[in-house]
Amino acid sequence: MPISENAKAVLERRYLARNEAGEPIETVDGLFHRVADAVAAADAVFDPKADVAATARAFYGMMTELDFLPNSPTLMNAGRPLGQLSACFVLPVADSMEDIFDAIKNAALIHKSGGGTGFSFSRLRPKGSTVNSTGGVASGPVSFMKVFNAATEAVKQGGTRRGANMGILRVDHPDIMDFITCKNNTSEITNFNISVGITESFMEAVGRDGMYDLVDPATGSSTGQLRARSVFDAIVTSAWQTGEPGILFLDRLNRDNAVPAQGEIESTNPCGEQPLLPYESCNLGSINLVNHLKRTPEGYTLDQDKLERTICTAVHFLDNVIEVNQYPLPQIGETTRATRKIGLGVMGFADMLLYLGVPYDSEEGVALAREVMDTVNTVGHQASRRLAEQRGPFPLFSQSIYKDGAPLRNATVTTIAPTGTLSILAGVSSGVEPVFAYAYIRNVMDNTHLIETNQILKDKLLEAGVYSDALMRQIVEQGSLAHVDGIPEEIRRVFVCAHDVSPIWHVKMQAAFQQYTDNAVSKTVNFPHSASREEVAEVYRLAYTLGCKGTTIYRDGSRSEQVLNIGKVN
Ligand code: CDP
Repeated sequence: MPISENAKAVLERRYLARNEAGEPIETVDGLFHRVADAVAAADAVFDPKADVAATARAFYGMMTELDFLPNSPTLMNAGRPLGQLSACFVLPVADSMEDIFDAIKNAALIHKSGGGTGFSFSRLRPKGSTVNSTGGVASGPVSFMKVFNAATEAVKQGGTRRGANMGILRVDHPDIMDFITCKNNTSEITNFNISVGITESFMEAVGRDGMYDLVDPATGSSTGQLRARSVFDAIVTSAWQTGEPGILFLDRLNRDNAVPAQGEIESTNPCGEQPLLPYESCNLGSINLVNHLKRTPEGYTLDQDKLERTICTAVHFLDNVIEVNQYPLPQIGETTRATRKIGLGVMGFADMLLYLGVPYDSEEGVALAREVMDTVNTVGHQASRRLAEQRGPFPLFSQSIYKDGAPLRNATVTTIAPTGTLSILAGVSSGVEPVFAYAYIRNVMDNTHLIETNQILKDKLLEAGVYSDALMRQIVEQGSLAHVDGIPEEIRRVFVCAHDVSPIWHVKMQAAFQQYTDNAVSKTVNFPHSASREEVAEVYRLAYTLGCKGTTIYRDGSRSEQVLNIGKVN
Protein backbone atom coordinates (compact mmCIF):
# COMPACT_ATOMS: atom_id res chain seq x y z
CA MET A 1 0.00 0.00 0.00
CA PRO A 2 1.53 3.37 -0.97
CA ILE A 3 0.27 4.96 2.22
CA SER A 4 2.78 7.04 4.21
CA GLU A 5 3.73 6.56 7.86
CA ASN A 6 2.11 9.89 8.61
CA ALA A 7 -1.16 8.77 7.00
CA LYS A 8 -1.02 5.45 8.86
CA ALA A 9 -0.66 7.34 12.12
CA VAL A 10 -3.76 9.45 11.32
CA LEU A 11 -5.79 6.35 10.47
CA GLU A 12 -4.60 4.51 13.55
CA ARG A 13 -5.36 7.42 15.83
CA ARG A 14 -8.81 8.21 14.55
CA TYR A 15 -10.27 5.82 11.99
CA LEU A 16 -9.63 2.22 13.00
CA ALA A 17 -12.48 0.24 14.54
CA ARG A 18 -11.92 -0.20 18.26
CA ASN A 19 -13.28 -2.43 21.00
CA GLU A 20 -14.87 -1.22 24.22
CA ALA A 21 -11.46 -0.84 25.84
CA GLY A 22 -10.47 1.53 23.04
CA GLU A 23 -7.98 -0.88 21.45
CA PRO A 24 -7.91 -1.14 17.65
CA ILE A 25 -9.53 -4.33 16.36
CA GLU A 26 -8.43 -3.92 12.75
CA THR A 27 -5.36 -2.98 10.73
CA VAL A 28 -5.16 -0.19 8.15
CA ASP A 29 -5.54 -2.81 5.43
CA GLY A 30 -8.50 -4.25 7.32
CA LEU A 31 -10.13 -0.83 7.38
CA PHE A 32 -10.08 -0.63 3.58
CA HIS A 33 -11.46 -4.17 3.26
CA ARG A 34 -14.22 -3.31 5.73
CA VAL A 35 -15.20 -0.20 3.74
CA ALA A 36 -14.93 -1.88 0.31
CA ASP A 37 -16.99 -4.91 1.37
CA ALA A 38 -19.70 -2.87 3.09
CA VAL A 39 -20.12 -0.47 0.17
CA ALA A 40 -19.93 -3.14 -2.57
CA ALA A 41 -22.70 -5.13 -0.83
CA ALA A 42 -25.25 -2.63 -2.20
CA ASP A 43 -24.81 -4.12 -5.69
CA ALA A 44 -26.81 -7.18 -4.63
CA VAL A 45 -29.81 -4.96 -3.84
CA PHE A 46 -30.20 -4.14 -7.53
CA ASP A 47 -29.00 -7.38 -9.06
CA PRO A 48 -29.06 -10.62 -7.05
CA LYS A 49 -26.56 -12.09 -9.53
CA ALA A 50 -24.11 -9.18 -9.19
CA ASP A 51 -20.45 -10.08 -8.66
CA VAL A 52 -20.16 -8.28 -5.34
CA ALA A 53 -16.68 -9.66 -4.68
CA ALA A 54 -15.38 -8.15 -7.94
CA THR A 55 -16.87 -4.77 -7.05
CA ALA A 56 -15.32 -4.98 -3.57
CA ARG A 57 -11.93 -5.68 -5.15
CA ALA A 58 -12.28 -2.66 -7.44
CA PHE A 59 -13.27 -0.40 -4.53
CA TYR A 60 -10.47 -1.75 -2.33
CA GLY A 61 -7.90 -1.22 -5.08
CA MET A 62 -9.07 2.31 -5.81
CA MET A 63 -8.75 3.28 -2.13
CA THR A 64 -5.51 1.49 -1.24
CA GLU A 65 -3.81 2.83 -4.35
CA LEU A 66 -4.99 6.25 -3.10
CA ASP A 67 -6.66 6.97 -6.45
CA PHE A 68 -9.89 7.87 -4.68
CA LEU A 69 -10.98 8.24 -1.06
CA PRO A 70 -14.52 8.64 0.30
CA ASN A 71 -15.23 11.26 2.97
CA SER A 72 -14.10 10.52 6.52
CA PRO A 73 -17.40 9.22 7.95
CA THR A 74 -17.45 6.47 5.28
CA LEU A 75 -13.93 5.39 6.25
CA MET A 76 -14.79 5.46 9.94
CA ASN A 77 -18.25 3.92 9.94
CA ALA A 78 -18.85 1.69 6.89
CA GLY A 79 -19.45 -1.92 7.94
CA ARG A 80 -19.70 -0.92 11.58
CA PRO A 81 -22.77 -0.70 13.82
CA LEU A 82 -23.18 3.09 13.55
CA GLY A 83 -23.05 2.94 9.75
CA GLN A 84 -23.44 6.71 9.17
CA LEU A 85 -21.43 7.50 6.06
CA SER A 86 -22.13 11.12 5.03
CA ALA A 87 -20.11 14.25 5.79
CA CYS A 88 -22.78 16.81 4.96
CA PHE A 89 -26.18 17.62 6.38
CA VAL A 90 -28.54 20.57 6.43
CA LEU A 91 -31.20 20.84 9.12
CA PRO A 92 -34.12 23.27 9.14
CA VAL A 93 -34.54 25.70 12.05
CA ALA A 94 -38.19 26.76 12.27
CA ASP A 95 -39.40 29.58 14.47
CA SER A 96 -40.55 27.75 17.60
CA MET A 97 -38.83 26.56 20.77
CA GLU A 98 -39.70 22.98 19.93
CA ASP A 99 -38.25 23.18 16.45
CA ILE A 100 -35.09 24.98 17.58
CA PHE A 101 -34.28 22.40 20.23
CA ASP A 102 -35.20 19.52 17.90
CA ALA A 103 -32.58 20.89 15.50
CA ILE A 104 -30.00 20.99 18.31
CA LYS A 105 -30.77 17.38 19.25
CA ASN A 106 -30.59 16.23 15.62
CA ALA A 107 -27.32 18.07 15.10
CA ALA A 108 -25.86 16.34 18.17
CA LEU A 109 -26.77 12.93 16.69
CA ILE A 110 -25.12 13.87 13.40
CA HIS A 111 -21.96 15.22 15.06
CA LYS A 112 -21.66 12.05 17.10
CA SER A 113 -21.44 10.13 13.83
CA GLY A 114 -18.76 12.38 12.29
CA GLY A 115 -21.06 14.45 10.04
CA GLY A 116 -21.23 18.24 9.85
CA THR A 117 -24.38 20.34 9.90
CA GLY A 118 -25.51 23.53 8.19
CA PHE A 119 -28.43 25.69 9.30
CA SER A 120 -30.20 28.74 8.04
CA PHE A 121 -31.32 30.86 10.98
CA SER A 122 -33.26 33.16 8.66
CA ARG A 123 -36.67 31.87 9.75
CA LEU A 124 -36.20 32.90 13.38
CA ARG A 125 -38.02 36.05 14.39
CA PRO A 126 -35.73 39.00 15.14
CA LYS A 127 -34.40 39.89 18.55
CA GLY A 128 -36.91 41.84 20.62
CA SER A 129 -40.08 40.67 18.85
CA THR A 130 -42.85 39.37 21.05
CA VAL A 131 -43.42 35.76 21.92
CA ASN A 132 -47.19 35.16 21.80
CA SER A 133 -47.49 32.39 24.36
CA THR A 134 -45.61 34.14 27.12
CA GLY A 135 -45.73 37.79 26.14
CA GLY A 136 -41.94 37.76 26.47
CA VAL A 137 -39.34 38.92 23.97
CA ALA A 138 -37.54 36.75 21.42
CA SER A 139 -33.77 36.30 21.72
CA GLY A 140 -33.05 36.36 17.98
CA PRO A 141 -30.88 34.13 15.76
CA VAL A 142 -27.44 35.04 17.18
CA SER A 143 -28.51 34.20 20.69
CA PHE A 144 -29.75 30.77 19.63
CA MET A 145 -26.58 30.12 17.64
CA LYS A 146 -24.71 30.27 20.95
CA VAL A 147 -26.88 27.42 22.26
CA PHE A 148 -26.16 25.34 19.14
CA ASN A 149 -22.49 26.13 19.61
CA ALA A 150 -22.47 25.00 23.25
CA ALA A 151 -24.18 21.71 22.33
CA THR A 152 -21.56 21.08 19.65
CA GLU A 153 -18.76 21.79 22.09
CA ALA A 154 -20.11 19.12 24.43
CA VAL A 155 -20.51 16.40 21.80
CA LYS A 156 -17.08 16.55 20.14
CA GLN A 157 -18.18 14.10 17.45
CA GLY A 158 -17.80 11.00 19.58
CA GLY A 159 -14.14 11.71 20.15
CA THR A 160 -13.21 11.38 16.47
CA ARG A 161 -13.34 14.98 15.37
CA ARG A 162 -14.83 18.25 16.50
CA GLY A 163 -18.34 19.04 15.36
CA ALA A 164 -18.55 21.56 12.57
CA ASN A 165 -21.48 23.82 11.71
CA MET A 166 -22.43 26.39 9.14
CA GLY A 167 -24.73 29.22 10.19
CA ILE A 168 -26.43 31.29 7.51
CA LEU A 169 -28.49 34.45 7.85
CA ARG A 170 -30.17 36.17 4.91
CA VAL A 171 -28.95 39.70 4.30
CA ASP A 172 -32.53 40.98 4.61
CA HIS A 173 -33.06 39.56 8.12
CA PRO A 174 -33.55 42.41 10.63
CA ASP A 175 -30.71 41.05 12.85
CA ILE A 176 -28.19 41.00 10.02
CA MET A 177 -25.84 43.59 11.57
CA ASP A 178 -25.57 41.57 14.83
CA PHE A 179 -24.92 38.44 12.79
CA ILE A 180 -22.12 40.01 10.72
CA THR A 181 -20.13 40.82 13.84
CA CYS A 182 -21.17 37.85 16.00
CA LYS A 183 -17.74 36.19 15.68
CA ASN A 184 -15.64 39.34 16.06
CA ASN A 185 -14.89 38.16 19.54
CA THR A 186 -12.94 35.18 18.24
CA SER A 187 -13.53 33.09 21.34
CA GLU A 188 -17.27 32.95 20.64
CA ILE A 189 -19.34 30.65 18.40
CA THR A 190 -16.13 28.82 17.54
CA ASN A 191 -17.86 25.66 16.30
CA PHE A 192 -19.51 27.57 13.47
CA ASN A 193 -18.46 28.96 10.15
CA ILE A 194 -20.83 31.79 9.31
CA SER A 195 -21.96 33.17 5.98
CA VAL A 196 -24.33 35.92 4.94
CA GLY A 197 -26.94 34.75 2.44
CA ILE A 198 -26.74 37.38 -0.27
CA THR A 199 -29.54 37.98 -2.77
CA GLU A 200 -29.23 39.34 -6.26
CA SER A 201 -31.47 42.30 -5.41
CA PHE A 202 -29.05 43.15 -2.59
CA MET A 203 -26.05 43.06 -4.95
CA GLU A 204 -27.97 45.23 -7.36
CA ALA A 205 -28.68 47.72 -4.54
CA VAL A 206 -24.95 47.74 -3.68
CA GLY A 207 -24.22 48.56 -7.32
CA ARG A 208 -26.53 51.58 -7.45
CA ASP A 209 -25.89 52.60 -3.83
CA GLY A 210 -29.54 52.07 -2.93
CA MET A 211 -31.54 51.11 0.13
CA TYR A 212 -33.06 47.66 0.61
CA ASP A 213 -35.83 46.25 2.81
CA LEU A 214 -35.34 44.22 5.96
CA VAL A 215 -38.07 41.61 6.31
CA ASP A 216 -39.41 40.02 9.49
CA PRO A 217 -39.62 36.30 8.61
CA ALA A 218 -42.46 35.75 11.08
CA THR A 219 -44.77 38.32 9.48
CA GLY A 220 -43.30 38.74 5.99
CA SER A 221 -43.49 42.50 6.39
CA SER A 222 -40.76 45.09 6.17
CA THR A 223 -39.26 46.31 9.44
CA GLY A 224 -37.17 49.04 7.90
CA GLN A 225 -34.44 49.68 5.38
CA LEU A 226 -30.66 49.67 5.30
CA ARG A 227 -28.20 51.15 2.85
CA ALA A 228 -26.86 48.16 0.90
CA ARG A 229 -23.35 49.59 0.66
CA SER A 230 -23.10 50.05 4.44
CA VAL A 231 -24.02 46.42 4.98
CA PHE A 232 -21.64 45.26 2.26
CA ASP A 233 -18.87 47.35 3.87
CA ALA A 234 -19.66 45.86 7.28
CA ILE A 235 -19.34 42.34 5.86
CA VAL A 236 -16.04 43.25 4.21
CA THR A 237 -14.66 44.91 7.36
CA SER A 238 -15.56 41.96 9.55
CA ALA A 239 -14.10 39.44 7.08
CA TRP A 240 -10.96 41.58 6.79
CA GLN A 241 -10.65 41.59 10.60
CA THR A 242 -11.45 37.96 11.36
CA GLY A 243 -12.01 36.00 8.13
CA GLU A 244 -15.76 35.86 8.80
CA PRO A 245 -18.50 36.03 7.69
CA GLY A 246 -18.18 34.46 4.27
CA ILE A 247 -20.82 35.18 1.66
CA LEU A 248 -23.14 32.85 -0.17
CA PHE A 249 -25.14 33.76 -3.27
CA LEU A 250 -28.56 32.29 -2.47
CA ASP A 251 -30.19 32.93 -5.84
CA ARG A 252 -27.36 31.10 -7.54
CA LEU A 253 -27.68 28.10 -5.23
CA ASN A 254 -31.34 27.96 -6.14
CA ARG A 255 -30.80 28.36 -9.84
CA ASP A 256 -28.94 25.03 -9.61
CA ASN A 257 -31.47 23.50 -7.23
CA ALA A 258 -32.08 20.17 -9.02
CA VAL A 259 -35.56 19.66 -7.56
CA PRO A 260 -37.15 23.07 -6.89
CA ALA A 261 -40.47 21.37 -6.04
CA GLN A 262 -38.80 20.04 -2.87
CA GLY A 263 -38.33 23.57 -1.55
CA GLU A 264 -35.70 26.25 -1.44
CA ILE A 265 -32.02 25.75 -0.70
CA GLU A 266 -31.24 27.94 2.31
CA SER A 267 -27.96 26.55 3.56
CA THR A 268 -24.83 24.58 2.79
CA ASN A 269 -22.79 22.13 4.87
CA PRO A 270 -20.06 23.53 7.20
CA CYS A 271 -17.34 24.19 4.66
CA GLY A 272 -19.70 25.66 2.05
CA GLU A 273 -19.22 23.19 -0.78
CA GLN A 274 -22.53 21.37 -0.50
CA PRO A 275 -25.83 23.27 -0.80
CA LEU A 276 -28.65 21.02 0.47
CA LEU A 277 -32.38 21.03 1.07
CA PRO A 278 -33.60 20.82 4.68
CA TYR A 279 -33.05 17.27 6.04
CA GLU A 280 -30.91 16.36 3.05
CA SER A 281 -27.48 14.75 3.36
CA CYS A 282 -24.71 14.11 0.89
CA ASN A 283 -21.69 11.85 0.80
CA LEU A 284 -18.50 13.08 -0.83
CA GLY A 285 -15.45 11.47 -2.36
CA SER A 286 -12.30 12.84 -3.94
CA ILE A 287 -10.08 11.68 -6.77
CA ASN A 288 -6.35 12.10 -6.22
CA LEU A 289 -5.20 13.81 -9.41
CA VAL A 290 -1.50 13.14 -8.80
CA ASN A 291 -2.24 9.45 -9.32
CA HIS A 292 -3.78 10.23 -12.70
CA LEU A 293 -0.61 11.51 -14.30
CA LYS A 294 1.56 9.39 -16.52
CA ARG A 295 5.19 9.84 -17.31
CA THR A 296 6.16 10.13 -20.97
CA PRO A 297 9.60 10.85 -22.47
CA GLU A 298 8.48 14.51 -22.75
CA GLY A 299 7.44 14.69 -19.10
CA TYR A 300 4.16 14.20 -17.25
CA THR A 301 0.71 14.29 -18.85
CA LEU A 302 -2.79 13.61 -17.62
CA ASP A 303 -3.79 9.94 -17.92
CA GLN A 304 -7.25 10.55 -19.36
CA ASP A 305 -8.20 6.85 -19.60
CA LYS A 306 -7.32 6.11 -16.02
CA LEU A 307 -9.12 9.26 -14.87
CA GLU A 308 -12.29 8.19 -16.68
CA ARG A 309 -12.12 4.70 -15.17
CA THR A 310 -11.68 6.10 -11.66
CA ILE A 311 -14.59 8.52 -12.15
CA CYS A 312 -16.92 5.65 -13.14
CA THR A 313 -15.89 3.43 -10.23
CA ALA A 314 -16.15 6.41 -7.85
CA VAL A 315 -19.71 7.27 -8.96
CA HIS A 316 -20.65 3.61 -8.51
CA PHE A 317 -19.08 3.70 -5.02
CA LEU A 318 -20.81 6.92 -3.95
CA ASP A 319 -24.22 5.75 -5.22
CA ASN A 320 -23.80 2.51 -3.27
CA VAL A 321 -23.03 4.54 -0.15
CA ILE A 322 -26.54 6.05 -0.31
CA GLU A 323 -27.93 2.53 -0.26
CA VAL A 324 -25.96 1.12 2.69
CA ASN A 325 -25.92 4.34 4.71
CA GLN A 326 -27.67 4.29 8.07
CA TYR A 327 -29.22 7.71 8.41
CA PRO A 328 -29.35 9.43 11.79
CA LEU A 329 -33.08 10.27 11.35
CA PRO A 330 -35.80 8.61 9.24
CA GLN A 331 -36.58 11.95 7.60
CA ILE A 332 -32.96 12.41 6.52
CA GLY A 333 -33.00 8.93 4.99
CA GLU A 334 -36.17 9.70 3.01
CA THR A 335 -35.01 13.10 1.77
CA THR A 336 -31.57 11.83 0.82
CA ARG A 337 -32.88 8.79 -1.05
CA ALA A 338 -35.36 10.98 -2.95
CA THR A 339 -32.59 12.95 -4.70
CA ARG A 340 -29.58 10.65 -4.17
CA LYS A 341 -27.06 13.52 -4.27
CA ILE A 342 -23.40 12.59 -4.39
CA GLY A 343 -20.37 14.88 -4.44
CA LEU A 344 -17.41 13.66 -6.44
CA GLY A 345 -14.43 16.02 -6.52
CA VAL A 346 -10.67 16.16 -6.72
CA MET A 347 -7.63 16.65 -4.50
CA GLY A 348 -3.96 17.13 -5.28
CA PHE A 349 -4.74 19.62 -8.05
CA ALA A 350 -1.88 21.98 -7.07
CA ASP A 351 0.56 19.06 -6.85
CA MET A 352 -0.57 17.92 -10.29
CA LEU A 353 0.33 21.36 -11.66
CA LEU A 354 3.80 21.09 -10.08
CA TYR A 355 4.43 17.83 -11.95
CA LEU A 356 3.12 19.37 -15.16
CA GLY A 357 5.31 22.44 -14.67
CA VAL A 358 2.35 24.84 -14.81
CA PRO A 359 2.00 27.76 -12.37
CA TYR A 360 -1.27 27.81 -10.37
CA ASP A 361 -1.65 31.53 -11.04
CA SER A 362 -1.61 31.37 -14.83
CA GLU A 363 -4.10 31.13 -17.67
CA GLU A 364 -2.68 27.68 -18.41
CA GLY A 365 -3.32 26.58 -14.82
CA VAL A 366 -6.92 27.82 -14.96
CA ALA A 367 -7.42 26.13 -18.34
CA LEU A 368 -6.21 22.83 -16.84
CA ALA A 369 -8.66 23.25 -13.98
CA ARG A 370 -11.47 23.58 -16.53
CA GLU A 371 -10.24 20.60 -18.53
CA VAL A 372 -9.94 18.27 -15.54
CA MET A 373 -13.22 19.28 -13.93
CA ASP A 374 -15.05 19.15 -17.26
CA THR A 375 -13.94 15.51 -17.52
CA VAL A 376 -14.98 14.70 -13.94
CA ASN A 377 -18.37 16.34 -14.45
CA THR A 378 -19.12 14.97 -17.93
CA VAL A 379 -17.91 11.43 -17.28
CA GLY A 380 -19.48 11.53 -13.79
CA HIS A 381 -22.87 12.40 -15.29
CA GLN A 382 -22.47 9.65 -17.92
CA ALA A 383 -21.72 7.14 -15.16
CA SER A 384 -24.77 8.31 -13.21
CA ARG A 385 -26.91 7.88 -16.37
CA ARG A 386 -25.64 4.34 -16.85
CA LEU A 387 -26.51 3.58 -13.23
CA ALA A 388 -29.99 5.01 -13.87
CA GLU A 389 -30.47 2.49 -16.69
CA GLN A 390 -29.63 -0.37 -14.32
CA ARG A 391 -31.06 0.92 -11.05
CA GLY A 392 -33.60 3.54 -12.06
CA PRO A 393 -33.35 7.33 -11.85
CA PHE A 394 -33.48 9.15 -8.51
CA PRO A 395 -37.11 9.03 -7.34
CA LEU A 396 -37.79 12.75 -7.86
CA PHE A 397 -36.27 12.75 -11.35
CA SER A 398 -39.59 13.54 -13.04
CA GLN A 399 -39.89 16.72 -10.92
CA SER A 400 -36.29 17.75 -11.49
CA ILE A 401 -34.64 20.26 -13.80
CA TYR A 402 -33.25 17.26 -15.72
CA LYS A 403 -36.65 15.71 -16.49
CA ASP A 404 -36.52 16.36 -20.24
CA GLY A 405 -33.14 14.66 -20.69
CA ALA A 406 -31.82 11.15 -20.14
CA PRO A 407 -32.55 9.76 -16.65
CA LEU A 408 -29.90 10.39 -13.96
CA ARG A 409 -29.30 8.28 -10.88
CA ASN A 410 -28.14 11.26 -8.81
CA ALA A 411 -29.57 14.79 -8.65
CA THR A 412 -26.04 16.15 -8.24
CA VAL A 413 -22.79 14.40 -9.05
CA THR A 414 -19.91 16.81 -8.39
CA THR A 415 -18.63 18.82 -5.39
CA ILE A 416 -15.15 20.11 -4.50
CA ALA A 417 -14.51 19.26 -0.84
CA PRO A 418 -11.73 20.72 1.31
CA THR A 419 -10.27 17.19 1.84
CA GLY A 420 -8.71 18.26 5.15
CA THR A 421 -8.04 14.69 6.30
CA LEU A 422 -8.25 12.88 2.97
CA SER A 423 -5.40 14.91 1.49
CA ILE A 424 -3.21 14.00 4.47
CA LEU A 425 -4.05 10.32 3.93
CA ALA A 426 -3.27 10.59 0.22
CA GLY A 427 -0.17 12.74 0.87
CA VAL A 428 -1.17 15.45 -1.63
CA SER A 429 -2.18 19.12 -1.65
CA SER A 430 -5.71 19.64 -0.37
CA GLY A 431 -8.70 19.99 -2.69
CA VAL A 432 -8.03 22.61 -5.34
CA GLU A 433 -6.00 24.89 -3.05
CA PRO A 434 -2.48 25.97 -3.91
CA VAL A 435 0.28 24.43 -1.78
CA PHE A 436 0.27 26.29 1.52
CA ALA A 437 4.00 26.00 2.27
CA TYR A 438 6.83 24.07 0.65
CA ALA A 439 8.90 23.72 3.76
CA TYR A 440 8.11 24.13 7.40
CA ILE A 441 9.59 23.28 10.75
CA ARG A 442 8.13 20.45 12.74
CA ASN A 443 8.72 20.39 16.44
CA VAL A 444 9.30 16.72 16.99
CA MET A 445 10.41 16.43 20.60
CA ASP A 446 11.71 18.98 23.09
CA ASN A 447 13.64 21.37 20.95
CA THR A 448 14.22 18.94 18.10
CA HIS A 449 13.31 20.75 14.92
CA LEU A 450 12.86 18.92 11.66
CA ILE A 451 12.50 20.65 8.34
CA GLU A 452 9.65 19.04 6.41
CA THR A 453 10.01 19.60 2.69
CA ASN A 454 7.55 19.16 -0.13
CA GLN A 455 8.86 16.09 -1.94
CA ILE A 456 8.09 17.39 -5.43
CA LEU A 457 10.15 20.54 -4.75
CA LYS A 458 12.94 18.57 -3.15
CA ASP A 459 13.23 16.30 -6.21
CA LYS A 460 13.18 19.28 -8.51
CA LEU A 461 15.90 21.13 -6.57
CA LEU A 462 18.05 17.98 -6.40
CA GLU A 463 17.64 17.52 -10.15
CA ALA A 464 18.71 21.13 -10.69
CA GLY A 465 21.69 20.54 -8.36
CA VAL A 466 20.80 23.38 -5.99
CA TYR A 467 19.27 21.54 -3.02
CA SER A 468 20.78 22.34 0.38
CA ASP A 469 19.64 22.57 4.00
CA ALA A 470 20.53 26.24 4.04
CA LEU A 471 18.28 26.87 1.04
CA MET A 472 15.40 25.01 2.68
CA ARG A 473 15.86 27.01 5.87
CA GLN A 474 15.52 30.21 3.86
CA ILE A 475 12.30 28.91 2.31
CA VAL A 476 10.97 28.15 5.79
CA GLU A 477 11.89 31.58 7.07
CA GLN A 478 10.47 33.49 4.13
CA GLY A 479 7.41 31.25 3.78
CA SER A 480 7.85 31.17 0.00
CA LEU A 481 10.42 30.64 -2.74
CA ALA A 482 9.67 34.02 -4.27
CA HIS A 483 12.69 35.87 -2.86
CA VAL A 484 15.14 33.08 -2.13
CA ASP A 485 18.38 33.40 -4.07
CA GLY A 486 19.82 30.45 -5.91
CA ILE A 487 16.59 28.95 -7.22
CA PRO A 488 16.30 28.75 -11.01
CA GLU A 489 13.58 31.05 -12.34
CA GLU A 490 11.58 28.26 -14.01
CA ILE A 491 11.29 26.45 -10.66
CA ARG A 492 10.43 29.65 -8.80
CA ARG A 493 7.62 30.47 -11.23
CA VAL A 494 5.97 27.05 -10.91
CA PHE A 495 6.39 26.41 -7.17
CA VAL A 496 4.12 29.22 -5.99
CA CYS A 497 2.46 28.94 -2.59
CA ALA A 498 -0.92 30.18 -1.38
CA HIS A 499 0.54 33.58 -0.45
CA ASP A 500 2.32 34.08 -3.77
CA VAL A 501 -0.98 33.60 -5.58
CA SER A 502 -2.79 36.94 -5.76
CA PRO A 503 -6.38 36.97 -4.47
CA ILE A 504 -7.66 37.58 -8.00
CA TRP A 505 -6.09 34.31 -9.20
CA HIS A 506 -7.56 32.46 -6.23
CA VAL A 507 -11.01 33.60 -7.35
CA LYS A 508 -10.37 32.83 -11.02
CA MET A 509 -9.38 29.30 -10.07
CA GLN A 510 -12.46 28.85 -7.88
CA ALA A 511 -14.68 30.10 -10.73
CA ALA A 512 -13.02 27.71 -13.21
CA PHE A 513 -13.84 24.71 -11.00
CA GLN A 514 -17.33 26.04 -10.25
CA GLN A 515 -18.15 26.16 -13.95
CA TYR A 516 -18.02 22.34 -14.06
CA THR A 517 -19.31 21.51 -10.59
CA ASP A 518 -22.97 20.75 -9.80
CA ASN A 519 -22.65 21.74 -6.16
CA ALA A 520 -20.03 24.21 -4.94
CA VAL A 521 -16.29 24.56 -4.46
CA SER A 522 -14.53 24.71 -1.11
CA LYS A 523 -11.89 27.43 -1.42
CA THR A 524 -10.28 30.07 0.73
CA VAL A 525 -8.94 33.23 -0.86
CA ASN A 526 -5.72 34.06 1.00
CA PHE A 527 -4.68 37.66 1.58
CA PRO A 528 -1.40 38.95 2.98
CA HIS A 529 -1.63 40.76 6.31
CA SER A 530 -1.09 44.08 4.52
CA ALA A 531 -4.19 43.72 2.29
CA SER A 532 -6.72 46.54 2.42
CA ARG A 533 -10.47 46.28 2.90
CA GLU A 534 -10.95 47.50 -0.65
CA GLU A 535 -8.97 44.51 -1.94
CA VAL A 536 -11.31 42.21 -0.02
CA ALA A 537 -14.34 44.05 -1.45
CA GLU A 538 -12.92 43.66 -4.94
CA VAL A 539 -12.62 39.89 -4.47
CA TYR A 540 -16.23 39.65 -3.26
CA ARG A 541 -17.41 41.56 -6.33
CA LEU A 542 -15.25 39.44 -8.63
CA ALA A 543 -16.55 36.19 -7.12
CA TYR A 544 -20.05 37.44 -7.88
CA THR A 545 -19.22 38.45 -11.45
CA LEU A 546 -17.32 35.23 -12.24
CA GLY A 547 -20.19 32.96 -11.16
CA CYS A 548 -18.88 31.57 -7.84
CA LYS A 549 -21.53 30.37 -5.39
CA GLY A 550 -19.87 32.03 -2.43
CA THR A 551 -16.53 33.18 -1.06
CA THR A 552 -14.45 32.70 2.02
CA ILE A 553 -11.43 34.91 2.59
CA TYR A 554 -8.63 34.84 5.10
CA ARG A 555 -6.10 37.58 5.78
CA ASP A 556 -2.86 36.23 7.21
CA GLY A 557 -2.50 36.87 10.94
CA SER A 558 -6.06 38.10 11.42
CA ARG A 559 -6.97 35.36 13.87
CA SER A 560 -4.82 34.74 16.90
CA GLU A 561 -5.23 30.96 16.95
CA GLN A 562 -4.25 30.59 13.30
CA VAL A 563 -3.20 27.00 12.71
CA LEU A 564 -0.64 27.36 9.95
CA ASN A 565 1.87 30.15 10.23
CA ILE A 566 4.12 31.09 7.40
CA GLY A 567 7.69 32.03 8.06
CA LYS A 568 7.58 31.06 11.70
CA VAL A 569 10.22 28.82 13.13
CA ASN A 570 8.48 27.46 16.26
O1 CDP B 1 -11.14 15.11 4.43
P1 CDP B 1 -12.43 14.80 5.12
O2 CDP B 1 -13.27 13.79 4.41
O3 CDP B 1 -12.21 14.42 6.55
O4 CDP B 1 -13.31 16.14 5.21
P2 CDP B 1 -13.25 17.54 4.43
O5 CDP B 1 -13.23 17.28 2.95
O6 CDP B 1 -12.18 18.40 5.00
O7 CDP B 1 -14.65 18.17 4.80
C1 CDP B 1 -15.82 17.74 4.14
C2 CDP B 1 -17.01 17.99 5.02
O8 CDP B 1 -16.95 17.14 6.16
C3 CDP B 1 -17.13 19.37 5.60
O9 CDP B 1 -17.64 20.33 4.73
C4 CDP B 1 -18.08 19.10 6.74
O10 CDP B 1 -19.40 18.96 6.24
C5 CDP B 1 -17.59 17.78 7.25
N1 CDP B 1 -16.62 17.93 8.38
C6 CDP B 1 -17.07 17.87 9.70
O11 CDP B 1 -18.26 17.69 9.91
N2 CDP B 1 -16.21 18.03 10.76
C7 CDP B 1 -14.91 18.25 10.55
N3 CDP B 1 -14.10 18.41 11.60
C8 CDP B 1 -14.41 18.33 9.23
C9 CDP B 1 -15.29 18.15 8.17
